[in-house]
Amino acid sequence: MPVRFRSVASRRKRHPARSCSRTLFAVSVGKGDPKRIVEAGYDQIGPSYRPWSDEAMSNDVRGEYLQDVVTRLPKDADVLELGCGPGADAAQLARERRYLGVDLSSVQLDIALAHVPNGSFLHADITALELPANSFDAVVAFYVFNHVPGAEQGPMFVKIYAWLRPGAFFCASLGAGEHEDLVQDDWLGVPMFFASIGRDENERLLGEAGFQLERSELRTELEEDGEVSFHWVIARKTN
Ligand SMILES: C[S@@+](CC[C@H](N)C(=O)[O-])C[C@H]1O[C@@H](n2cnc3c(N)ncnc32)[C@H](O)[C@@H]1O
Repeated sequence: MPVRFRSVASRRKRHPARSCSRTLFAVSVGKGDPKRIVEAGYDQIGPSYRPWSDEAMSNDVRGEYLQDVVTRLPKDADVLELGCGPGADAAQLARERRYLGVDLSSVQLDIALAHVPNGSFLHADITALELPANSFDAVVAFYVFNHVPGAEQGPMFVKIYAWLRPGAFFCASLGAGEHEDLVQDDWLGVPMFFASIGRDENERLLGEAGFQLERSELRTELEEDGEVSFHWVIARKTN
């Protein structure tokens, strides 16, 4: 059964988000480093992340896909959200359903837990997560895969496929363009790890994992300092 996340308020560090410089530089990241950069980054951004994300995305593609997910789900479904962050979507996903949110950042999980007391939350790296096969009606991952190393994304699709029940689906925003794994020196005031394997590779690896694509499209949103595109998918487990 899902483990309820325990608050670790003593680890909280509050740093206001600053505008980002958009300076990118590639670094050679050793094994394990990307996860530590992401964890430390989101812990440090802390409560500033959720208001930034609520306001930054003017087109609200996430809202559209969230609505699509909710209308496809039966009541009493089992829903897994990967990289749930501060729980912006958790309340809707958890309504009359069993919900498990997983995140690397204990600070973001603290915020999610405060907003969604009926959800279950787990502090874990999604790429190291072990869950029973055939146990979820949907897996949702919004703006998370762009923080997962490129080489780990295909194996992650295989794990998600196994966790889903036959006929269940995976909904995610994935990296739209292709670039090497990199660290941005100042993203919301912290160093942050980013990866993106691109739409063609996303589709190829999802197909290889066994998924059938029901929606697959590039969508552009306007952030405060420019346009950003993601590859949005709804992929179904067919057997
Ligand atoms: C951009 S935020 C998105 C949060 C939420 N899905 C939303 O749309 O508001 C990315 C979240 O993914 C989490 N994350 C990134 N890589 C992760 C990993 N390997 N395991 C667990 N969580 C991860 C981060 O800690 C962060 O909270």
